Amino acid sequence: MKIAIYGGYGYQGRLVLAELARHDAEITLVGRNAARLAAVARGRETRTAAATDHDALVGAFRGANAVINCAGPFTPAGAAVARAAIAAGCHYIDTSGEQLHIKRIYETCSADAHRAGVIVTPAMTDGGVPGDLLARVLADRLGGGPLHEVLTGHSVTGGGGMSRGSMRSLLGTVDVVKSGGLAYEDGEWRTDARPRLASLAFPGRGPVPVSRFALPEVVSVPRHIRAGHVQGFVEADLAARFSGAVPDDAVDAFPEGPDADARQRQRWAVVVTATTPDGRRATGSAEGPDTYGTTAAIAAEGAFRLAGTPGVRAPAEVLPPAAFLDALAPHGITWRTS
Ligand SMILES: NC(=O)c1ccc[n+]([C@@H]2O[C@H](COP(=O)([O-])OP(=O)(O)OC[C@H]3O[C@@H](n4cnc5c(N)ncnc54)[C@H](OP(=O)(O)O)[C@@H]3O)[C@@H](O)[C@H]2O)c1
Repeated sequence: MKIAIYGGYGYQGRLVLAELARHDAEITLVGRNAARLAAVARGRETRTAAATDHDALVGAFRGANAVINCAGPFTPAGAAVARAAIAAGCHYIDTSGEQLHIKRIYETCSADAHRAGVIVTPAMTDGGVPGDLLARVLADRLGGGPLHEVLTGHSVTGGGGMSRGSMRSLLGTVDVVKSGGLAYEDGEWRTDARPRLASLAFPGRGPVPVSRFALPEVVSVPRHIRAGHVQGFVEADLAARFSGAVPDDAVDAFPEGPDADARQRQRWAVVVTATTPDGRRATGSAEGPDTYGTTAAIAAEGAFRLAGTPGVRAPAEVLPPAAFLDALAPHGITWRTS
């Protein structure tokens, strides 16, 4: 299998590269900076192409089975990379967490991806994939019918903090983040939705106060589950810290990202609750170490396992939900439902 990584010399891109190197993959590194590409290539093929140069991107991706785009912030340039991957006849996945980008991909790329016979799945991350897959598992356990609500929450504890690139992504969409993000309310996308949760119990912890937050799976879940309400939450103090207190020009001074030891001390958890119109409820959770390492594992495994009907698809439409979550066990990831 031949895989092109766009933004492969960034922090997340290098983790994806290391993860893919463990698989039997032929890797092409693509990016806008030839010197930075050469610095991480170690004999692998490199191709230089700016996100603004469609023809160069198509040429760089041609021949690959799949493109993994790690070049965030995604809201300004991610759709152009997805369009080039489609034009080159490649499946496309990315490591975005930005709701506006994810929504744009769903709304603008589907017909072209379908015509080209390729699968496009944004938000192949530590949060976006477990959240979307758990929601599907719960919906099926509740009978597969329309749901009243799907509520999803993320928590991250322990060492490390965010990468510089994640900080830039957050600041680039700070208005939607400050609003609590997009929620799905009776068929409409709203930033002013009434929070349907005030607290949430994460694995191994009692209930903690939560605030609405711009989570990626809020955008993907309504693609495959009929639900009246879909909302995302994080711990309230985390949401307060994410609300843009950092000035744009201070971000360059941030460390590139947590080192390997700090990543191992990190614990993430995703909790999803689904409720039927008659009040039956199911809850699922997934947890593990190392958010960025988990994203690399999910993107790499995802690129290999992607299968289904061409078009822009949610994770649960192109990955077998329970089997894919099980396949993450070697990365220290566990999951359960009740
Ligand atoms: N759960 C989640 O939501 C989640 C988890 C993991 C990662 N992510 C996302 O992954 C992204 C990458 O994070 P990171 O820490 O790897 O950032 P990073 O170290 O800054 O790397 C970003 C890479 O993208 C490239 N890039 C950025 N804008 C570009 C553009 N317009 N055209 C071409 N190349 C561009 C950069 O190239 P130059 O050096 O040439 O600028 C660099 O190679 C972020 O958006 C982050 O939020 C999200």
